[in-house]
Amino acid sequence: MARPTTVHVCSDCGHETPRWAGQCPGCQAWNTLVEEVRSAPARGGGGGSGRAGVGGSRGGAAVAPTRLGAVQASEVARLPTGIGELDRVLGGGIVPGSLVLIGGSPGIGKSTLTTMALANLTGAGRKTLYVSAEESAAQIKLRAERLPGAALDIPVIAETDLGAVLATLERERPEVCVIDSVQTLHAAELTGAPGSVGQVREVAGEIMRVAKQHRIAVLLVGHVTKEGALAGPRVLEHLVDCVLQFEGERERTYRTLRALKNRFGSTSEAGVFEMRQGGLVEVLDASARFVGEATHAPGSVVLCAMEGSRPLLVEVQALVSPSELVPPRRVVSGIDRNRLALVLAVLGRHAGVAVGSADVFVNVVGGVRVDEPGADLAVALAVASAARGVALRGAGGRDGEDGPPLACFGELGLTGELRTVAHPERRVAEARKFGLGTIVTPEAGTLRAALRSALPVQQRARAA
Ligand code: TYD
Ligand code: MG
Repeated sequence: MARPTTVHVCSDCGHETPRWAGQCPGCQAWNTLVEEVRSAPARGGGGGSGRAGVGGSRGGAAVAPTRLGAVQASEVARLPTGIGELDRVLGGGIVPGSLVLIGGSPGIGKSTLTTMALANLTGAGRKTLYVSAEESAAQIKLRAERLPGAALDIPVIAETDLGAVLATLERERPEVCVIDSVQTLHAAELTGAPGSVGQVREVAGEIMRVAKQHRIAVLLVGHVTKEGALAGPRVLEHLVDCVLQFEGERERTYRTLRALKNRFGSTSEAGVFEMRQGGLVEVLDASARFVGEATHAPGSVVLCAMEGSRPLLVEVQALVSPSELVPPRRVVSGIDRNRLALVLAVLGRHAGVAVGSADVFVNVVGGVRVDEPGADLAVALAVASAARGVALRGAGGRDGEDGPPLACFGELGLTGELRTVAHPERRVAEARKFGLGTIVTPEAGTLRAALRSALPVQQRARAA
């Protein structure tokens, strides 16, 4: 049998060359050549199989279109993983035969989460398979021993060769299979290193082909780069049915799981987990955890955020410190850096809080990431409070010293106005549920007015 040949195809202009080069000879773009398998052309003469198109026509029979209303669509029975937060993010469990990509940085708990899901499925009598191209069977066992349930009953293979994995899938035909990870499997036909774009695309494409053929649901694990993008798997996002992002900080215990794409459910759901000794534990009372730790110090405020359709209270902290650096430092954790730049500009222009010659640090406590405009007001209040060195005024407390902390949410407009965000009632209800009486909402109108109501009276009197 002839060895399949590979070509390098430019992802911009489609130019093909037999050998890799840094620059595409066709369009002169850099780093656009991706290796692909070129299956040998159909053997001449032998059997008229498939597309023997020689003279213009490409062959293939015409297909009769069906009116959409007449299409039979039955409600798919999902496979619940037994992990409530994961099932919710997936939209009610794993859809048989679907391809789910789970991305996250190394050490975040992807292997743990997928092992726990397989353990539950195995325990429920489902046929499963765990394919690890990263760890030996012994290492997987060590992890499984720490986990509850039927983790030790999961059938595993430790294999990096794509061909062997495909053959195993064909023979075993599990209902649910985990591939850990897509970047470490290796297609022998391609010369590129595992994890290169060509390899990742080939691996995922082949696994998808076999999975769809035998209705195997696949949880594909992928690593993300430092910048937070799914490395390599970016090219997979259009290929798979669901893309889940598992994030948090490795040193912290909290992790959030969110859907970036979901063909079978909403992308606004998110789940919160905590990494413990015995694996990942669902956090159902996340707000209580985060608010319980909130301080009354200057620079601290509670944000009523939305994690998908669920409200979540988190503490946002800021530190403003004089700096000799030009430009001064802007360090964020849990929010978008560009968003901080915008908030600082609005604070300076429209609320008289200038921090041009100070380092500004903003942190969302607990390693949570809030990616919504509703966080603007919290960042602004925290920075203003830190810059002035006074605590924000919560209900009950005279000067923010005692009583519950101040809560807020709202988006900042470029002219200093506050803009409404989604689900204000749910955010307010969540804050009230945890005893936070003072809530600054977009109804305050402008950032200046919000600051006026949030900074202590005494301080304002002194400032006047
Ligand atoms: P892991 O699932 O291997 O991460 P990933 O596959 O995303 O790289 O686990 C990451 C960390 O979780 C690891 O440092 C050990 C820790 N851990 C626990 O704290 N408790 C546990 O029960 C398990 C299994 C792991
Ligand atoms: Mg892992």
